[in-house]
Amino acid sequence: MSKMVDSTIKMLTLVFFLVFVSQGYSKCSLSDLSIYQQPTGIQLKQFPEYRVDIINNCANCVQKNVKINCPNFETVEYVDPSIFNVLGNVCIVNGDKPIAKNVNVTFNYAWHNSFSLSPNSSEISC
Ligand SMILES: *[C@@H]1O[C@H](CO)[C@@H](O)[C@H](O)[C@H]1NC(C)=O
Ligand SMILES: *[C@@H]1O[C@H](CO)[C@@H](O)[C@H](O)[C@H]1NC(C)=O
Repeated sequence: MSKMVDSTIKMLTLVFFLVFVSQGYSKCSLSDLSIYQQPTGIQLKQFPEYRVDIINNCANCVQKNVKINCPNFETVEYVDPSIFNVLGNVCIVNGDKPIAKNVNVTFNYAWHNSFSLSPNSSEISC
């Protein structure tokens, strides 16, 4: 291999490495927000209870002002509005407090059925 080709390959490797690293640190978006739901197996007033975990997977950034689509959400179990505040079809998660990396925001609710919950919007703050 010529010296020229060798140093070009080294240069490209470095460029790819830097792109990879910078993406890991700065490319954060709403899709880094995961919402998990599962039945707890408990019945409350004959309604099945569900546990919700909302997690920010973003490597270096918090997400705040997190809103979730929660159409028709209802619950017979009290849900603390500072954790999950139902405002029509959109629910606010964690009040105005930021959600840090890999810290579950968790609450339980109980209804006839589970509700579809999906990310609506957030502010990324790095
Ligand atoms: C966070 O949520 C995930 C997904 O539901 C769950 O597997 C994990 O046990 C939770 N971690 C904590 C500390 O509650
Ligand atoms: C966010 O919620 C508003 C109000 O319900 C809705 O019009 C909009 O389409 C939602 N956006 C996303 C990305 O789900």
